[in-house]
Order: sequence, then structure tokens, then C-alpha cells
Amino acid sequence: MRHPVRLLLLVMQLAAVCVLTTHAEISVSGPRCESASNPLGVDALNPHLSWLLTSSQRGQKQTAYQILVASDEDKLRRGQADIWDSGKVASDQSNQVLYQGPTLASRGRYYWKVRAWGKDGAAGPYSDIAYWEMALLSPDDWKAEWIGHTGGWLGRALYFRSDVTIRKTVRRARIYVSGLGYYELRLNGQKVGDHVLDPGFTDYSKRVLYATYDVASQLQPGKNTIGVIVGNGWYGLPKVLLQGEVTYADGSRDIFYTHSAFVEPPNGPWQVTNGPILENGVYDGETYDARLEKTGWDTPSWDPAKGNTAVDSADQWTTPQSVPPPGGKLVSQTIDPIKIVAAIEPKTVSEPRPGVFVYDIGQNMAGWTELKVSGERGARVTLRFAESLAPDGTVDQRNLRTAAATDVYILKGGGAESWEPRFTYHGFRYVQLEGFPGKPTLKDLTAKVVRSSVDPSGTIETSNDLINRIQKMVWWTEASNLHSIPTDCPQRDERMGWMNDLTVRSEEAVYNFNMSRFYPKFLHDIRDAQGEDGAITDTAPFRWGSRPADPVSASYLLLGWFLYQHYGDTHTMAEEFDGFKAWTDFLSSKTKDNIVTYGYYGDWSPPKAFAIADSFGSGAVSKDTPREFMSTGYLYYCARLVSQMAVVLGKKDDQAKYEALANRVANAFNQRYWNDAVGGYGSNNQSMNAFALFLGLVPQDKVQRVVANLVKAVHDNQDHLTTGNLCTKYVLEVLTQYGYGDLAFKIATQETYPSWGYMLANGATTLWERWEPLTGGGMNSHNHPMMGSVSAWFHKYLGGINPDPQGPGFKRIVIRPYALGNLTWARAGYNSPYGLISSSWRKENGSFRLKVTVPVNTTATIYLPAQNPSSVMEGGKPVATAEGVKSLGSREGAMVFEVGSGDYEFAAN
Ligand code: BGC
Repeated sequence: MRHPVRLLLLVMQLAAVCVLTTHAEISVSGPRCESASNPLGVDALNPHLSWLLTSSQRGQKQTAYQILVASDEDKLRRGQADIWDSGKVASDQSNQVLYQGPTLASRGRYYWKVRAWGKDGAAGPYSDIAYWEMALLSPDDWKAEWIGHTGGWLGRALYFRSDVTIRKTVRRARIYVSGLGYYELRLNGQKVGDHVLDPGFTDYSKRVLYATYDVASQLQPGKNTIGVIVGNGWYGLPKVLLQGEVTYADGSRDIFYTHSAFVEPPNGPWQVTNGPILENGVYDGETYDARLEKTGWDTPSWDPAKGNTAVDSADQWTTPQSVPPPGGKLVSQTIDPIKIVAAIEPKTVSEPRPGVFVYDIGQNMAGWTELKVSGERGARVTLRFAESLAPDGTVDQRNLRTAAATDVYILKGGGAESWEPRFTYHGFRYVQLEGFPGKPTLKDLTAKVVRSSVDPSGTIETSNDLINRIQKMVWWTEASNLHSIPTDCPQRDERMGWMNDLTVRSEEAVYNFNMSRFYPKFLHDIRDAQGEDGAITDTAPFRWGSRPADPVSASYLLLGWFLYQHYGDTHTMAEEFDGFKAWTDFLSSKTKDNIVTYGYYGDWSPPKAFAIADSFGSGAVSKDTPREFMSTGYLYYCARLVSQMAVVLGKKDDQAKYEALANRVANAFNQRYWNDAVGGYGSNNQSMNAFALFLGLVPQDKVQRVVANLVKAVHDNQDHLTTGNLCTKYVLEVLTQYGYGDLAFKIATQETYPSWGYMLANGATTLWERWEPLTGGGMNSHNHPMMGSVSAWFHKYLGGINPDPQGPGFKRIVIRPYALGNLTWARAGYNSPYGLISSSWRKENGSFRLKVTVPVNTTATIYLPAQNPSSVMEGGKPVATAEGVKSLGSREGAMVFEVGSGDYEFAAN
């Protein structure tokens, strides 16, 4: 029996909690500015503010808010909003609220807090104080100039250094920096911040990203040393631009910056030299000669004269020269920076040939390795990275094509050394070590996972282990291909932002990661490449493929659409709207009788038997799905998206114009491709029928025939796909929507060729580019996201969490789980702008139980697979009596309910 006093205490504690929670019925947490917490370098002149709301009550929502903004934290604490007081605003908006105070100053730091009023009209407490800080808003803010090396460039990474003097107590200190291709910033011997492979990849002639670092705590009184190491990245000949700004406690300021000629103190002279990074290339890898290290070069005690006695004249410090700027405008980097996000210990190490050691990381991934080694000075360790092994157990690098993907470390000798590269990354599961002194152990190599540091957002787990393993495989593939642009693959000589793949990949990505800052940046990349004629390019930044892009690149508009649906972001849509229209107009200008007349890839990369043998791109063009069919379907899709966006943006004329275009294209599409003899589209294959259904282009009286033909086309292929990168998504979606969810489930869980299960059965840990298990040269990446749309299907249908177009950004949610195939349960979660949404269901003794969590200030429509309203319970009570649950009757074979925030537990027989 429990101790009576303890019991009493427990009761008292519970009572206290109840009193507290009924008192603060709504409270604010997680204040964000421009979708980030306490960001520096904000360049939106009117930033968007968002917050989370919590409450223990059901159906809680915000009825009003008040935002206070101050120039000083203490002022705000005392309630003095000297910058802006929104006053009490009657509104339920808690996501992306526009700052509407006075003009914000360049560099200005603003402190803010917010409170909310709940459904009963009572105000909750203010949030914790948050801040944002503005970027350098005007070109005139920059004193710095781009500097580089003068002499003949040896291809080596350059080391820049300068001493600065800190004269008084520092109140605030910032370094604004960009170094092309990639830079690493150092201060007094330490790396500043945790960005790697910075800045993000852009078309440097249009836009160059710079980062902002708070360096106050790393500065010391007196002499300080700034060091910047700059590699080639996607640029070439290294150059750097840096500006440091210090505000002292007494309000006076110092500024120091990169320059070539003499300028006023505290600017010391800058110096530059070649360093130990002999070679560095994104594709090829890095060669590092530790014997050339200048230990202490980035510290104040460094004596450059001493440094000049180094190995050869190339290592002398010289004065950098001002160099031509890259040409693009300087823009604050607001995308989540690339970071080392995880470390993995290898699973095994083998010795397939004497002295050749091969590590298996156990997971195909993107990043690099840290090597631990000791040995003689000058010993040379070579690391070769690969996704697969040759039959003899050594690495097989043939599918990397011309990418050498090889790092070399040359030892300095004299004890334990540890090294990892800076300016390259690899896509790999295996690492082959040659020249290692002795026999390496598992401890001597650690894999570092490197990617844009977007947060994971959605989770999905089911009773079917194969589904879980496919989800993991897709997740790792997406994660491996986020390197400031959405790359097609991380390993071979490509790594480009392919727009065709992204058309079907983007929805998977927004379910698995928080792309709210990543995609706006990529939209700018696309826009930078867009021509006067409206044509976008196959890849952005444009380095590969064609201009104009394949018309299947509706990804351009879809990114804007998903940013709106998943994050409630209308400003990016507004900013890009002209670009979206221009691309749609361009496609429309490439039509004859409203049929688009060109296409390159179409439903790219179907199973080999369904592709044109040995045509362009190693037989990846579909033989039964005409490219013009796909192109025309996507013109329709784009026109419809533009007209839907026009509604959101209140542009009536555009709405009507693009709706009319969509209708014209729809008619032409049906006239050209409808095949009445068979009751399907074109060749009547899976792709054509699924795409037409997905687009909603099939006239109502023909839908049943088309669906029946689609089902037949699936059965004719033993319930396997015959589709390429694009239509794979649509087959699963439309089968589920038209009542054939179990068939979609069967396709998704096949383990024989072609299927995701087949990839897993053949050892894949990330998605292949082809359905076939190819090795050798050519086109067969083993880490290619374009077939990963199945993960979006898991989230949307098995987990059942969907944004409701009626309330974008998950202000309204649709929860509609499908209990398909042999599934007995599924658990899904999604971190929305309003907080965590969860949906978890279980089939048990003939009943269906569904637990959902709906965040405060949102409304969910819940579909329960049940026929009989009287059998539905919530929280153990008949649903009719449940608090906050409104019945909307039955729809499409489900009982439908509407709920506000809270946790609910439904059960139906
Ligand atoms: C890319 C693919 C892309 C294709 C289009 C390939 O090189 O890796 O992802 O779909 O080109 O041609």
C-alpha cells in the first residue's frame, strides 16, 4: 500500500497543476522570425513572426494577439515596446504574422515577445523574449573588397590572415563573410560557428550568399587573429570578402575588413599563402599534406617571418590583391547551413588485398570521414569512397564516372594525427584505405554525415517492417541530397538540382524535413536562371541539362505551392508569381493546338523493358508514354496552379486567364490522347492513365473505365510498376483515391523486381536511380531521390496526415488514415508550424482505434473508417457526447468529425 502522506502530497501537486493550467489557458512558446529561432542576418524588410500555442484545454484557439518589439532586452522586460506595439489584434493568425512597425535598420537587433488571448477571451502570459537581427541591408554597408592571390594559382586552397586589435570592452561583434567556392572562418585558432561547405551554392554571377557570425565571445582584449581558408567549391579560384564590426561598451565602433591597399587601423594588413590543402574538389576529393601545416597561423602569436621559412616559396605569405567580385549581389544566407549533423562508427573493416582495407559504414550516405592515424612523416594514406564493392571486396567506383572521390592524407609524423577534409564531400557506404601504417581498426575511421541542417519534420512507422525499411531508405536518400540545393545524387560527377526529379520529390521532402527556409532559396536559384523568355533550366544553378527545361519541371511552381500548403508561406508565392506565370507562358508558347511540342525525359527511367533501348541517357526514356503527353499534362498542371495561386493572391485577371488556358489544354489533352477503343489514354499503360486521373483530366463518365484499365495494367505486370520517376507517384495516389488502396499497398510492398523491396533485398540502404540493380559506369546512382515519392504516400495515406487546402500551413488539417493490406497499426507525426500533429491507429478485435493530437489554434477534419455512427466512441464515451467533437456525417465510406485542438481517442467497430 502507498504511504498516505505521499498520496496526499501527490493529490496536492495534482490540484496545483490543475489550478495553474486552468489559469493560464493559453500560452505562447517557440517564437520564430522568418521561420527561424533568434536568427541573425534577416533581410526581409518586414519579417514574418510566428509562435506556438499550448493549452491543456480542448478546442483552444487564439482570438487575439499582441506583439511587442523593443530595441533593448531590458526595455522589453519592463514592457517598453519602443519599436513597435501591435496593440491587441483580433486575429487567429499565429503563423507568419507580418511585422508592421517602423523601418528596421541595417544590423539592428530587435527583441520581441508576444501574448495571445484564448477562446474565452482571457489573455495568456507573454512568451519568453526572442530576438532577430537584421542583415547588412544596403550595398553601402559594405566596406570590404574581394581579395585573392596574386601569383600563379596552384589550385591549392588559400589561407588568408589578418590581425585586428580590440581596444576596449566589447559589447557586440559580428563577422560578415563569404568565401568562394567554400570557406572556413577561424578566429584566434578556433573555427567560428559550425557551418561547413559554406556558402550555399548559387549562380555567383547573380547572387552570392554571406553568413553572419556573432564573435563577441571569441574576441579577446588586444591582438586577435582572423583566418579564412578558402577552397574551390563550385567556383574555382578562391576569393574572400569579410567585414568585422565591433561595438564597444562605450558605444564606439571599430570595423575591419578584407582589403589589399593600406587602410586605417584597426585593420592590420592581410596576408595570404598556400596551405596544406594541395587539392580540393567537390567531385574529386581533397589532398592534404600535414607537413605543410603552419601551426598557429590563425593565432595572434604567429610570426609570419617564421612562417616564411616553410617548405618552399609557394608557402610564403604575401599580400593579397583585390580581385574582381564574382558579380552577383550579396545576399544574407537564410537557408539552414550545411553542417556535420551526425557521426557514424563503421560496422566492419576487411582486408581484401594485402594492405588494402575496406570499411563498411553500413549506410549509404553523404559526407566524409575523420581519419585517425599515426606513422612516419610523409606516409601517404589514400581514402577511396564508393557506394558498392567489386566482387573481390575492393571498392567499385565506376558509377561515379569522372569523380575521383578520393582523399589523400600525408602524415606529418610524430604521434597521433587526426584529419577530415573541408572542401569536398562524397556519397558513399564503403571507404578503402591504402597506405595506412599498420592495420586500421574500427576506431580509426568515423563517418561524418554532412548536409543542409534542415530539421526532420514527419515520422511514420507501421506494423509492416518492409514499409518502415523503405521509409528509412527514402529518408536517408533525401537527407543525402540536401546540400544547399536539392541534388539528384551525392556521389558522381553531377550533384545537380534537377528540376524534373523534384516535381515528384518535393512533396516527400516537405513531409520528411522542414524545407521552409530551404525551398525559398532554391526558388531564387531557379529564378536566377530563368531567361527573359520565361524559360527555366533543367538544373539550378544551371550547370547541366538544357535550357529550356523539360516541361515536366512543374517543380518550380510546386515548391511555391508546398511552401504555402505546408508552411502557410504566401510571400514566397507572391515573390515568385511572375516567374511562375512566365514559365507557364513559355510552355504555352511551345504548343501546337495546345499540345506541348517538346520534352526530353518525360516519365524518366522506367523499368528497362519499358524504356527505349539505348536511346539518350542509357535507355531511360519511356517507350509507351510519349514525352509530349507528359509535357502537356504539366502545362495543364502549371496553368491550374497559377490560377489557384492567383486566387490566394487576389489576382482576379490572372485567375481567369490561367483557368482558361488550363481548360484549353485539358480539351486538347483529351482530344489527342483519349483512346475510346480501349477506354484509356494513349497506350493505355499505367503511366498515362494514372497521370490523367491524377490531374483530374478524365471526364466523369470515363473515370471508371480508366481506373479499371489502370488496375488491369498493374495486374498485367504481376502487380508491379512499369512507371518512371514521375508516374510512380501518381499510380499509388490514384489507386488509393479510387478505392484500390490495397493494390497500391501491394505494389509498395513488393520485394521482387521492380520495387523498393527489391532494392532492399539487394542490399540498398538508399534508393537507386534505376529499378535495376546496375553497377559499372554510366547512369546508375545508388543514392537518387527521384523514386522516393512513395514516402509521401506513406505519410499521407498510411499515417493520414494532410494539410487542408482550406487552411494552409496546417491551420486546418485533414486526418484520414487508410488501414491497407495487412497493416494492423501505424503511427505518424508531423511538426507543423502550429506544433506537433499526430495520428496513430490500431486495428484490434474488430475495432479501429485512432489517437490524434491536434495543435492549439488549428482545426482537424477526421475520417474514421466506420459505417455506423452509434458504434463510434471517443475517450470511452459515445462520440455524440464527447467534448469538442462535431459530427459531419458520413462521406466516402468514412464517418467524418471536426475537432479543435487537443488529444482524442476514437474507437469504432
Ligand atoms: C540525373 C537525373 C535526371 C536526369 C534527366 C540525370 O543525370 O541524375 O536525376 O532526371 O539526368 O536527364
